[in-house]
Amino acid sequence: MPNPFYHRDIISIKDFTKEELLYLFEITDKLQELEPYKLRKMAEGKILGCLFFEPSTRTRISFEVAMNMLGGYSVGFSEPKGTSLEKGENLADTLKVMDGYCDLILLRHPKDGSARFAAEIAEKPVINGGSGSEEHPTQAMLDIYTIRKFKGEIEKLTLGIVGDLKYGRTAYSLLYGLALFKPKIYLISPNELRVRREVFYDLSNKLSLSEFNSLEEVIGELDVIYVTRIQKERFPDPQEYEKVKGSYIIDNKILSKSKEELIILHPLPRVDEIKVEVDGSPKAKYFTQSMLGKYIRAALIASLLKRDLKF
Ligand code: CP
Repeated sequence: MPNPFYHRDIISIKDFTKEELLYLFEITDKLQELEPYKLRKMAEGKILGCLFFEPSTRTRISFEVAMNMLGGYSVGFSEPKGTSLEKGENLADTLKVMDGYCDLILLRHPKDGSARFAAEIAEKPVINGGSGSEEHPTQAMLDIYTIRKFKGEIEKLTLGIVGDLKYGRTAYSLLYGLALFKPKIYLISPNELRVRREVFYDLSNKLSLSEFNSLEEVIGELDVIYVTRIQKERFPDPQEYEKVKGSYIIDNKILSKSKEELIILHPLPRVDEIKVEVDGSPKAKYFTQSMLGKYIRAALIASLLKRDLKF
């Protein structure tokens, strides 16, 4: 298959087909086998511009590490403080300037639609590193890659997605990505944090979805549990957050009711939704998942920059 990612914007997981994601996963596997000196030629001298308007540990640093592994480097900011945005410069001008300096632009921004806006302004490929409560496409690529790595064929699995399904952008992107693979999905959340209705009805036409309030009721059926943080910062009313915080806590007691081969994923950061006692369980794969982020992002960077990838 010719490289379908070359010079493309990565805005929404909905812009990609199953075959394109499988292509990316194959490149990700190949990069992990490559000698470091060969890896360093894949983006030699190229520059990644990182524009972060919201906090991040994994997304920003895994992209930066990936760029370094490929022989390139990164510039940018981890918060607008200290940039000319403080003097009143607008996002469009900031993007135009970065477009002139960089080969790729990675943007995280609190507003829905921000990444699409950036792609309209910049000529260089824009990667959405998280836009509002809308999308986090590279996280979904990583999540689906991790599920395949541990469980093989996704089509046969039952996945539980737990927590904040209303404001969580990782859950949204993951659901649309999984719609290409059609596993059985249990959505587990308090009523207040159910998947937005238009999304639920849209996805119901694409895959098998069922909603639950109780994790205990279904944990025994799950092959994968994807836990999400309640997104405190996106609640319009802090009292609403107080009502639902701590709704689901994964501990060893509840895990004793799960299948032996269950895997637990989490995009991280976690707050209190997975107890630290679970980290030692062979079921806990969330730190491996975050580590794999540097490889999936390296595969993405290489595919965006080079039309013909040679190994
Ligand atoms: N999963 C994720 O997006 O983590 P960060 O917010 O640390 O980038």
